[in-house]
Amino acid sequence: MESYVPSLRSYLMNRLLTSLYLLWLVSTVVGYFATINYANQPYDMVLLQRAQAVADQLKLGSGHEKLEQVLELPDGSDPVMPDRIVYTVSDSEGRKLAGTASLSTPLSYRRSKIGAVFSNGERGGEKTRTVSLVYPDPAGVRVLQLHVSETTHQRQALIRGILANIVIPQLLLILLAVAAVWYGLKKGLLPLERFRSEVAARARGDLSRLDEARAPVEVRPLIDAVNDLLERLKQVMSAQQRFVADAAHQLRTPLAGLKTQVELALRESDPVRQQRILEYVLTSAKRSSHLIKQLLMLARNEPGGQGVEAFLPLDLEQIARECTMHWVPFALEKDIDLGFEEAHTSTDILGDADSLGEMLGNLIDNAIRYTPRGGQVTVSVKHDGSHVCLHVQDDGPGIPLEHHALVFERFYRVLGSGQSGSGLGLAIVAEVAKRHDAELRLESGNGEAGCRFVVRFPLAEKQLELSGPRS
Ligand SMILES: Nc1ncnc2c1ncn2[C@@H]1O[C@H](COP(=O)(O)OP(=O)(O)OP(=O)(O)O)[C@@H](O)[C@H]1O
Ligand SMILES: [Mg+2]
Repeated sequence: MESYVPSLRSYLMNRLLTSLYLLWLVSTVVGYFATINYANQPYDMVLLQRAQAVADQLKLGSGHEKLEQVLELPDGSDPVMPDRIVYTVSDSEGRKLAGTASLSTPLSYRRSKIGAVFSNGERGGEKTRTVSLVYPDPAGVRVLQLHVSETTHQRQALIRGILANIVIPQLLLILLAVAAVWYGLKKGLLPLERFRSEVAARARGDLSRLDEARAPVEVRPLIDAVNDLLERLKQVMSAQQRFVADAAHQLRTPLAGLKTQVELALRESDPVRQQRILEYVLTSAKRSSHLIKQLLMLARNEPGGQGVEAFLPLDLEQIARECTMHWVPFALEKDIDLGFEEAHTSTDILGDADSLGEMLGNLIDNAIRYTPRGGQVTVSVKHDGSHVCLHVQDDGPGIPLEHHALVFERFYRVLGSGQSGSGLGLAIVAEVAKRHDAELRLESGNGEAGCRFVVRFPLAEKQLELSGPRS
């Protein structure tokens, strides 16, 4: 799951700072132990030499040991040699035989074979380092142990010095790296900031493209996507502007006519002529109301109107049958034989019943309206593999081929039919088809008269398979 990133800069800074901090911690710990190891080596050598000097003076291992001898050893009072040295000679059981302190680290004879043994300890609240040596006498009767111990002031001072020389430059280096990263991020994110201010400073209706050439390569896909969106938005907005302008223009003409006719009727004193004018008024009012009805229908089915979430599984055949029945009285009025052919198989699709009713209504209305008296109109629903096809066929005059692509445009009408209309019916049909993912075709020719509108819908089960069940 993707986590939410509040700010790219703080996210990257946090990540880098954490890594740098961990790195610094590890290198400090490793450096500390390495320093102790290296600092001990030369001091241990010196301590061993001192222990050997003590052993020489006491003649340990010679058989003529001088254990009562008083030795002069550094007592820590010299500021150049601040460490105090003490020693103990003991027997193999650890009993003290001589010395300036009681250091008891009993050593087995066996362990002494590995040579000097160094150990850390504490005496009188001070840290100490002790070397232990074993001296068997020439007769092999006795074993003497010598422990020489010194305080660790000099060692500690050396370790502190080395550590300060490692840790402080490292800390400075990390601070420098942080500053460099912060500055780099600020610089790197500058193009995004520039795009932000460019977009913010735009005029309200400015949907021109953003200049992706000035963006870093990583940001270009984002700018491209925004440009695509702007392009689509521009198209939708200009289509809407055109539509509003067209609609206003289309409404103005009948309303202006209405106003003139009403004024005429008001001035007319002859009741017969007044009656005739009022009949014109009624016709104009009917046309205006039809235009408004069509406009509303179109707006409802446009992209951005109702979404596909209103779609339900429904039987296209049933909707087509009911709609055809509704139009029978109008067909009878014009002496048109309006027929319906069933599919005899499942015709379930996912859709919006109201919109589909409006689509069918417009297709049947056209077929009845533009087919001369005595003609024939057939509505049929057919199964076609993974699709359901809705056919509305008539044997009227048909639509000339050069108008085929244009009749689906808004307000486009083929002149000379002698019928009135707003030119929106087929535009509504096209929008409903698009909303339902259906393919819309106008077929004619093949030696037959009239025209056949075919709308090919995907079957509900196929759509559900593709998109998963809808909630
Ligand atoms: N079945 C048809 N037979 C012949 N011509 C048709 C047929 N259907 C549509 N047309 C032609 O296509 C044009 C556009 O039809 P459309 O339904 O979009 O508008 P309209 O019928 O003029 O107006 P509206 O349907 O909005 O009242 C019509 O003017 C008509 O000339
Ligand atoms: Mg029509």
